[in-house]
Order: sequence, then structure tokens, then C-alpha cells
Amino acid sequence: MCGIIGCNGVEAAVPVLINGLERMEYRGYDSSGIAVLSQGKIITEKKKGRVAALVKRLEQSTNLDAQIGIGHTRWATHGKPSDENAHPHQSGKFTLVHNGIIENHAELKEQYLKLTKTKSDTDTEIAVHLLNRFYSDNCLEAIAHTVRLLKGSFALAVICEDEPDRLFCVRQASPLVVGIGDGTFAASDTSAISEKIHTLYRMNDGEIAVLSKDSIEFFDFGLNKITKTPDEFEKNSYTADKGNCEHFMLKEIYEQPEAIRKTVDAYLNENVFDLQLKIEKPERFYIVACGSAYHTGLVGRQVFERLTKIPVSVETASEFRYSRPLVNGNTPVIIISQSGETADSLAALREAKKRGAKTVSIVNVKESSIASESDFVLLTKAGPEIAVATTKAYGAQLAALYLLGIYFAEAFGTADKNELEKMKKALTELHKTVSAALGCEELIKEIAQRLKDIDRAYFIGRGLGFAAAAEGSLKLKEISYIHCEAYAAGEMKHGTISLIEKGTTVVAMNTQKELTHKLQSNIDEVRSRGARVIAVTSAESKIDADETITVPEVHPLFAVSTQIVPVQLLSYHIARLRGCDIDKPRNLAKSVTVE
Ligand code: G6P
Repeated sequence: MCGIIGCNGVEAAVPVLINGLERMEYRGYDSSGIAVLSQGKIITEKKKGRVAALVKRLEQSTNLDAQIGIGHTRWATHGKPSDENAHPHQSGKFTLVHNGIIENHAELKEQYLKLTKTKSDTDTEIAVHLLNRFYSDNCLEAIAHTVRLLKGSFALAVICEDEPDRLFCVRQASPLVVGIGDGTFAASDTSAISEKIHTLYRMNDGEIAVLSKDSIEFFDFGLNKITKTPDEFEKNSYTADKGNCEHFMLKEIYEQPEAIRKTVDAYLNENVFDLQLKIEKPERFYIVACGSAYHTGLVGRQVFERLTKIPVSVETASEFRYSRPLVNGNTPVIIISQSGETADSLAALREAKKRGAKTVSIVNVKESSIASESDFVLLTKAGPEIAVATTKAYGAQLAALYLLGIYFAEAFGTADKNELEKMKKALTELHKTVSAALGCEELIKEIAQRLKDIDRAYFIGRGLGFAAAAEGSLKLKEISYIHCEAYAAGEMKHGTISLIEKGTTVVAMNTQKELTHKLQSNIDEVRSRGARVIAVTSAESKIDADETITVPEVHPLFAVSTQIVPVQLLSYHIARLRGCDIDKPRNLAKSVTVE
């Protein structure tokens, strides 16, 4: 949520900043801006809209010859998207960019800046005015003074006209990394700078980094020097290349089999768990996550409970952290997060650790905060996911949960050994079945053509089918803006069925053979009231609906992995026909680093 980029000592700062912003646009895309220090003066350009709009603006501005600068792509929290509210913000000789929320901005204004006129509606602007207010002749001291007063979350990158050779960065509860290569760099996300650096430092909360042209010094907020060791990182294979696809989302749906294969290969045969994951048979598991990752948790619960006979609670992270969870040393907490930076999930992880729980994370980004702070990390191998609506990372998270379920069942001796062997075999084949499920795309295109003008849809299912329905509903609503709801199929008759009328669209997910008859009854109930039902089912479970999408048979516990594919494709094609901005849906961001 908001992307920060900074560089110092580079040959040309503007292209470095723009390239970084383009790579981090998934974090927010309602406005963007850069500030560079050229011949002793800071020049700022910012613009409402996408980075492309900023690039256009820059084409008209004078030649910006600079070696140091900062940039920002915004997801608005305080103040609507506009040129004025876009970052960077300036006061006196200081200019800064910010990711996070300064919760006490109103109190600080009242106490220190009563007479200061602000130009924007942002919380951020208060921070830059404070820098100016506390500055006499030492930037670092003014920064330390300011950040000691700020409450909330803030990653900052600051430049000052009096110190043209230094870039200052701060991290408190918002991600920020810094690195050294041909110059020094800062970014919210390693992938934005990984190709430019040979040495990376992940900043911790409460740290200030001072980036000179070829070295970095670290301090705490009391300005005591800190010695840090570099972190490992992977050079990023990201390219802004959609291949033959019109959108990243479609490309990533097609990369799902590969994401599953790589994740399974990395863990199933390597026995990594045996070496590192020592967990005694617990009284309960907690699975905690947000958004689609939470939906994979709903699947995980059923897989774990079936295989381990241990109860599982699945919680949304934003609720878990404030619910005084009954977590202790005997209730491992599994955090699922594609980005590894979601603020609520990270806070939930810290809450679980505070309460003495062992923590396991399922994360797609190795250098992320959640990966580095949990006791054990299971890295999904989906590769960088660009589209805001997750598809391949979701598929890889499911695979990771199957792997964990099998691992725990083996470790605790809670499932039949032959059954577990069968599941392992099915897991190594899963990518092929998911790949075969992609064969439904032509049929999906036809259905999408018929559904493109609907204004609402209901997704229903039982058991695993409900978990799939929840994800299907989220996918369609987030990218097509059609109002969607997901229900446990048996719940429809307790209220929501009153909304069914002639032509209402209902998508039914038939994941469980043994529940097919029950789901059929629910389908019949809504059809007899006029609903038009599209059923997703596997080859061996026949179901009667207005349209049926059949996917290949797979191990019953893995059915969501195949059945989600047609629903992802359906959401994609409906959104495409509606002319929606599929990879960057309105109001959303991929990495949600504020509460
Ligand atoms: C955002 C994204 C979702 C994602 C959720 C959790 O809302 O748009 O696709 O599922 O955050 O993100 P995480 O990175 O923790 O999986």
C-alpha cells in the first residue's frame, strides 16, 4: 500500500525512480510523484492517476539532471486522490514521501504547527512540516526528533537541500529495504531494486538509514549507531511482460500449474519439514490471513481436520489481532500471505508470538517481514504476481496447505499411511490436472458473454465448495464491480433466497461428491424461483443446472484447486467484456500495509 523508492549516487535518478515506481504500482495507483535534488534545489513533479500520467508530465518538464531523488506511488488513506495530496510533500528545505498512517497527525498539528498552512489533506504533510520546524543545521537530528513524536505506521524517504549527498530513510511498521550497488537505493519492496544492488539490508522498526553515494549507516531513533548484517535476497525475475496475454491476470491464471508444481517439488520430496518444523501434537491450530489468503485458510481447515483430527480455527487477521485470541504454546498459528507484508497479518503474527505460539508462515516473498519473523517459513513458488487480484499465488497457497496437512498427519500418525501416500502421489500430479482444467476457457468465454451485464451474483457451495464459492465471489466482485455474495448452500433458505428472482445468477461449486445430492436440492430451490444456475463440478459428480462447467477429477481434498480455475476465468472474461481495468481494479492495492 503506497510504494516508496529512493536512490543516491546514480548516473540519472529520474529513470531509476520511474522504473521503481512502475514495478511497485501494484501497491497503489491513484497518484504518483518524484522529487530530485539538482544543483542544490529540489524539483518535484506529481500527478493524479497512474505512473504513466507522471511520465507524460515529466516529458514536458525541463531536463532533470540529478543523482539523488525519491518517488512514491499512492493508495489514498487521508485525502482523496489529487495532485495536491500526491507525494512528495515539501516544507522549507525538506521533501519526503511516506507509506503508512500517522495516527496522531491532528494532535501534532495542534501542538507544534498551529500557524502552519497546509497544502494537502494528508497526514503525511504534518511530518515534513515537523522536520522543518525542528531543523537548525542537522537533518539527521531533525528527523530523529520528528519520528520520536510520530505514532502509527511510517516508512519515510527524505531529502534536504542542505545535504545534497544524503538520502534519509525511516522504518516504523511499514516495509522498507535499502541496498548498495552502483549507488544506494531504498524501496518498499526488494523486487523494485533487486537488479540494481549486490547488498541488501531489510530495515527493522525503529531504524533510520542514512544513504550516502556508496555506503549506508544505520541509527535507532535515539541516534545510537546500529551495526547490521546484510540479508539474503533473490534477484527478481520480474518483467513487465504479459507474454501473449492481454492482462497479467490471465497470464497468471495460466501460470498456476507451474506455481503449484514448483511449490510441491520444493517441499514434498525434500523432507525440509522434518529438519526444521518441530511441533508437538497441538490442542488446536489457528490459521490467520486476509482476503484470498483467508479463503485458502478455509480450505486448509477442512484438510487439516480431516487428516489430523485436530480442530482448526480460521480467522481474518484484522479480527484476530484484537480478539484476545486463546493462543498459547500448544496452539501453532499459521499465517498465510502472498506479499508477506499485509499489516494485519504481520500484527497477528506478532500477537501470536507474544502469546507463546509457534508460528508457521506460508509466504510468496522470501525477504518479507512475515517470512523473516515467523519460526518456520513455507515459501510458495508462485514467482512475482503482478495483477492485484491473486490467482497463481492463491493456487500455490492451497498446495502449501495440502503439504502441511500431509506433513502434520504423518508426524502425528493421525491418518492412514496408504491414504497419505495416495495423496502425495495426487499432489505431484495436481499441476497437470489444474492445467487440464484450463481447457474450459472457450466455454467460459461464451458464458461470460451471456453474463456480462448482470448486476449481482450469488456463489454457493457446501464444505470445500463453500470455501471455493467465497473466493469465486471475491474474484468476480473485485475485478468486475458486480455485487457478489457467497453463501453456504444450505444457508440460502434462511434469508437470502428472498433476493432470488427470474434471471438471478447463481454459481454453484460442487466440490464434494458425497454432498452432490444436498447441493442439487439447493440448486433446485433457487432454480424453481427463477435463478439461472451455473454449476462447476468434477467429471464424476453429475449435477443438473442451466449450464455446467466440468473439470477433471482430482483427489477429493484437492477439488478447490481445479474448480477455482473456471471461476477465475469467468471473472476475468466478464470483467474484460465490461471494459474494466482488470490488473488494477479501482480502490484496491495488492500489498495492504495499513490497518
Ligand atoms: C489484498 C489483495 C488480495 C490479497 C489480500 C491479502 O486485498 O488484493 O488479493 O488476498 O490483500 O494479501 P496477502 O499479501 O497477505 O496475501
